[in-house]
Amino acid sequence: MVKYTLFAASLMAGLISSVSAALTPIEVKGNAFYAGDERFFIRGVDYLPGGSSNFKDPLIDADECKRDIEYFKDLGLNTIRVYSVDNSADHDDCMKQLDDAGIYLILDVNTPNNSINRANPGNSYNTAYLQHVFATIDSFKGYDNLLGFFAANEVINNENTTSSAPYVKAVIRDMKQYIKAQAKRAIPVGYSAADISINREQQAKYFNCGEDEERLDMFGMNDYSWCGKSSFTVSGYDQKVKDYSGYSRPMFLSEFGCIEVTPRPFTEIGSLYSTDMSSVFSGGLVYEYSEEENKYGLVSIKSDGSITTKTDYNNLKSQLSSATNPTGDAGASPTADAASECPTYEAGVWEVEGSDLPSMPKRASSFISDGAGKPLGTTGPNTSYGDEGDVADNEAMAAQGSTTAASSGSAKTSSASGSASAAASSSGAATGVHASMPNLLSPVVALPFAIVMLSMMLGTVMVV
Ligand SMILES: *[C@@H]1O[C@H](CO)[C@@H](O)[C@H](O)[C@H]1NC(C)=O
Ligand SMILES: *[C@@H]1O[C@H](CO)[C@@H](O)[C@H](O)[C@H]1NC(C)=O
Ligand SMILES: *[C@@H]1O[C@H](CO)[C@@H](O)[C@H](O)[C@H]1NC(C)=O
Repeated sequence: MVKYTLFAASLMAGLISSVSAALTPIEVKGNAFYAGDERFFIRGVDYLPGGSSNFKDPLIDADECKRDIEYFKDLGLNTIRVYSVDNSADHDDCMKQLDDAGIYLILDVNTPNNSINRANPGNSYNTAYLQHVFATIDSFKGYDNLLGFFAANEVINNENTTSSAPYVKAVIRDMKQYIKAQAKRAIPVGYSAADISINREQQAKYFNCGEDEERLDMFGMNDYSWCGKSSFTVSGYDQKVKDYSGYSRPMFLSEFGCIEVTPRPFTEIGSLYSTDMSSVFSGGLVYEYSEEENKYGLVSIKSDGSITTKTDYNNLKSQLSSATNPTGDAGASPTADAASECPTYEAGVWEVEGSDLPSMPKRASSFISDGAGKPLGTTGPNTSYGDEGDVADNEAMAAQGSTTAASSGSAKTSSASGSASAAASSSGAATGVHASMPNLLSPVVALPFAIVMLSMMLGTVMVV
């Protein structure tokens, strides 16, 4: 009897502990992240084995996850960022392994075929694209160790791509709405901005201005300004802390690790996890885990799958282990919630007026209540050109003389968005220098839109 009870108790304990191993979901409070009552600082790497120009979902192969998680643990990491996944694949094993290792995921929702095309943002913001985005949310919303989603990465990459900003912000708004309707918790949605000085402050303000339902939950900066044994002041980090002080959402470095001086000493770690920066910044992600063509790796993955660590790896490990997080709120403002002021229009710098966003394409609104339906994975159609159904809706509305456009094109921007000639001149993927998407089919021919709609209808009951 006693024996039995003990056995049952230990069995129960085993069951409970395997369940309760789940990490505490991260919450945004004011301008910082919290795990329960404790401030959370991102200690992470960007994880894109195979490189930025070869699409590969790194969260499918359980053995590869196991191999790499050993190194994440050895480095003392608590977060990784993944740039693209196959939303139709099974990620349970890798996500569980990460959770068991105490590691959260930040996930970009775009793929080479599904992103806001900076050269043609109006057409790329469409129902088929949103189906992809929402289905990706469905695939990951159940994981407690999902820290958050990036709606986009580096879409605005200079002074004359700012007209894509309203479309990116519309995606943030739509994702927040979808999460509110279809997920059990408030999963943070953010944007990862390119390392450009001309309008990054405008970007930060723009994505945090206007209506609450449209504002982002976190702002990532890709930042390569600390090179070699620089310092808080020489790198300009001090200025960034000043510039963004008072910003009401968490900020962090979504990519960092300049390679002008190698091996990288990673002395910025000492500043990043100190009170020099902790009132504004919540840590960051080193670009990147594996050595690829662009030479930003910490480790090399050999062709037989074995790993060798670079000097950068050892330097990062020792810097991380000696940098303890500042305690308590560490200067954060957990009750801050004020919207930023929308940046003002400035020709050649920020060519967006006010905060008007394009409305969600008419047919995409049914996803909010009914769910997105079947994920189409990476072999789904290229949504960058448009969606025939949306075009038909818009034409029908125009014919009726309606003033509300059903989808793209209603945002106030300076340049004519959605011009067909612009699309042809750019690779257009919503990614930047360091993580640009593959461009496998540059001279793409006409799209089989019917297949898009047909495959979507197979997976969901759509109100047409
Ligand atoms: C955009 O800006 C770049 C400089 O950053 C310039 O070379 C290019 O001509 C501009 N393109 C347009 C369409 O204005
Ligand atoms: C991208 O879209 C094209 C055309 O719609 C499709 O044939 C292809 O399988 C998709 N996926 C990839 C990875 O190219
Ligand atoms: C999808 O279309 C965009 C826009 O033209 C293009 O840049 C991208 O390479 C295409 N994706 C694939 C996988 O071919």
